[in-house]
Amino acid sequence: MSTRRILVTAALPYANGQLHVGHMLEHIQTDIWADFQRLRGHKVLAVCADDTHGTATMIRARQEGRPAEDILAEMNAAHQRDLQGFGVEYDHYGSTNSEANRELCHEVWGSLREAGLVVEKEVTQLFDPVEGTFLADRFVRGTCPRCKTPDQYGDHCESCNSTYTPNDLIDPVSALSGATPETRSANHLFIRIADLQDFLAEWTQTEGRLQPEVANYLKGAFLGEELWDWDISRPAPYFGFEIPDAPGNYWYVWFDAPIGYMAATKEWCDANGEEFDDWWRNPDTEIRHFIGKDIIYFHCLFWPAMVKTAGFTLPDRVQIHGMLQVNNEKMSKSKGTFVRASTYLNHLDPAYIRYYLASKLGDTLADLDWGTDDIIAKVNSDLVGKVVNLASRTARFVKGSGLSAAYPEDGGLFAQAAAAGEAIANHYENCDYAKAMKQIMALADRANEYVEEAQPWSLKRDETKAQELQDVCTIALNLFRQIVVYLAPVLPQLRAQVGVLLNAPIEHWDDAQTPLVGTPVSKFKHLIQRVDGDAILAAMEEAKELAVAADVTPSAQTTDDDAALKAEPVAEECTFDDFMKVDLRVARVITAEHVDGAKKLLKLTLGLGGDETRQVFAGIKSAYDPAELQGRLVVCVANLAPRKMKFGVSEGMVIAAGPGGDDIYVLSPDDGAVPGQRVR
Ligand code: 2FM
Ligand code: ZN
Repeated sequence: MSTRRILVTAALPYANGQLHVGHMLEHIQTDIWADFQRLRGHKVLAVCADDTHGTATMIRARQEGRPAEDILAEMNAAHQRDLQGFGVEYDHYGSTNSEANRELCHEVWGSLREAGLVVEKEVTQLFDPVEGTFLADRFVRGTCPRCKTPDQYGDHCESCNSTYTPNDLIDPVSALSGATPETRSANHLFIRIADLQDFLAEWTQTEGRLQPEVANYLKGAFLGEELWDWDISRPAPYFGFEIPDAPGNYWYVWFDAPIGYMAATKEWCDANGEEFDDWWRNPDTEIRHFIGKDIIYFHCLFWPAMVKTAGFTLPDRVQIHGMLQVNNEKMSKSKGTFVRASTYLNHLDPAYIRYYLASKLGDTLADLDWGTDDIIAKVNSDLVGKVVNLASRTARFVKGSGLSAAYPEDGGLFAQAAAAGEAIANHYENCDYAKAMKQIMALADRANEYVEEAQPWSLKRDETKAQELQDVCTIALNLFRQIVVYLAPVLPQLRAQVGVLLNAPIEHWDDAQTPLVGTPVSKFKHLIQRVDGDAILAAMEEAKELAVAADVTPSAQTTDDDAALKAEPVAEECTFDDFMKVDLRVARVITAEHVDGAKKLLKLTLGLGGDETRQVFAGIKSAYDPAELQGRLVVCVANLAPRKMKFGVSEGMVIAAGPGGDDIYVLSPDDGAVPGQRVR
């Protein structure tokens, strides 16, 4: 097999946010593929970088009163730390705000100009008069012109799913300052990608470039009609690179972001004495991008158009994945399922998510579910129960003797697993990791059957069977090692640990072809622990707390409408003494449960500290699941006269806002409050 030269990239994360588990789906998928290719002996360069430009960074720098570069450096370090924490190893992790990127942007721009593809047109856009900046669609919020749902994005309604322009929004406000935007015009530069339509039609439809569903989508949604000109400039102020021949204008972030793939390569080449042109101007180099399905047209239309025009090597394949959901729902900050990478690492072993995602990832765009119960079952039964178990039940019996000097007769088990190596490799190659994992687990099942039958623990009790014991353990540990070789791209930590355990580092895919003999065996140390469901819950709890903390910075400019106040005007005046008669206390929801036969009520036991409790029937069933209330701090009326209700006595009230139905909002105190404290 000849050695391939492969450049691998994952989409560049935005610098304006922390990485979360959704990002990790892509980085883990990319890392597995790159590492698989390295293990096969190919020359691989894996690069990534932070995507830094645009309005968001500029505004944050302004709000925090410090240079954007400081924020970028902090975020870059945090992103790299998170990636390393998950075992994701890029050869180089750069930034689009680099000199290398600026130079390459100039070069690509020169080619586009030379090819006559740049045209100028006037664009009308919403402008934030407070921040003094034009507003990208996602920075405008307002009421949907179709279904009238308030607080929707400038280009898309999440409620009725319709798309429109920010000018269509009812009562638009700037998400940056809360100000009402103005309409202003400016000249923008566009790229006429329709001039490359024939090339793109051919490139996207070439077999192997894209998954068939992506090729069909592009054909149906874009390539059937003349492609629109692509608006790639933004007038000042904008945080980015100024366009050399259009002073006061900056390249739009999506122009310089993918060029960042090349810039990261360039930086790595400069640091390692390699030639940039070997990677980006060499038809023998394979270039493969991993991206999510939300950014298809940038990577499959604009990007190849730019690369083609500038004469660089075109990608061989853009591999596209679906989005990560948690417990079958979109990730949500309030539900605690929007879990940051660092939060995950505070509670859980990266091996869990790496294996779990691998066991689910196929070569499709289907969304992938992170199901709490499913992950516990999979990791505990596959990784711990089938794989690690092989070593934990045998390694200690040969710690003194090491492996047998010759590989014993095993009924063909090792040879069968060795023969499976090519099929498993093909699944990795085709990004069908789920099939690879399934096949590997079938090998683990067979190896476990062998151990069950051979019963090394019984042999251990009989001194005359020492040789047999060593042989059985030699077979079991070799079958185990074969499995770990096949899992190595997914579980780099396990790969390293097993290298130490068996005193033979795993360096090549073919290490699964020849059994180890005569080598010492080190002391067995725990390899992977079982997943603890409480640790997953703790991660979600931390995610919820972080989301709440991040949300307490509303814009000072926000003007709320008065519908709620009009619906229920302020009540008649009361005295301070009247108010003090109502004893409001912080309380913890100790239990929350449905009440048989009650349509609206939940039964809560509230703890006020010590043994002091109140049983309360609260009319909040339409808006809350009992499980989400349990453990939460609330505010209750602690001295309300008990009331006999159909389902029992209610001894208080929980304070909540909202008109009813789905719109009920139970009030919580800020962090630090404890049950029993009076609220006044
Ligand atoms: O969608 C995103 O998260 C972008 N930051 C991806 C950029 S990928 C590449 F083009 F740089
Ligand atoms: Zn709508």
